[in-house]
Amino acid sequence: MNALLLDLRSDHHHMARIMKLMRYAVNPMIEEQSLEHLELLGECIEYMAMFPDNVHHKTEDAIFEQLVKQDKAAVVYVETLQHEHVELAKKSKEIASLVHALENEHIMSLDNLINQTIEYIELQTRHMRIEEATVFPLVDQKLDISDWKHIIKVAPPRQATPGSRFTQKLESLQTKYAGISS
Ligand SMILES: [Fe+2]
Ligand SMILES: [Fe+2]
Repeated sequence: MNALLLDLRSDHHHMARIMKLMRYAVNPMIEEQSLEHLELLGECIEYMAMFPDNVHHKTEDAIFEQLVKQDKAAVVYVETLQHEHVELAKKSKEIASLVHALENEHIMSLDNLINQTIEYIELQTRHMRIEEATVFPLVDQKLDISDWKHIIKVAPPRQATPGSRFTQKLESLQTKYAGISS
């Protein structure tokens, strides 16, 4: 499998752990209207907006566009996935602004934040499942070296290397909440 595709699968593994943390953070809100883990929810969504929305999804968009050039039938999956990338980015911004308002002690019902967070977790999880089960294997099968050379040129720099701000953010989340996300 191409190295970039392996990187994206590794991103999914980390993102699945973040979804687990978000679920953990929203539970006290559902059960007892408690903001005990509001800070954790804010940190998770900040990471999602920083790396998956800006880098991971944009890299997939470049790959999916190349896939459709090689296999027109793939458009059925690709259109939905690209639309979901836009939806997910929109939702992460909405969740971040609700968390921010609560952190600044704006009084509001938690229902909207709870619903948006649950929808986000479900959409993100289903989205990654379709990519892993259906689209990544197709990408692996249909794209050749020249496709990958083109993708590397147009995709955003990953910077997910040791020491990068994306990696630092992820590592600090995983260390701080090790017992929950593993
Ligand atoms: Fe995606
Ligand atoms: Fe993905």
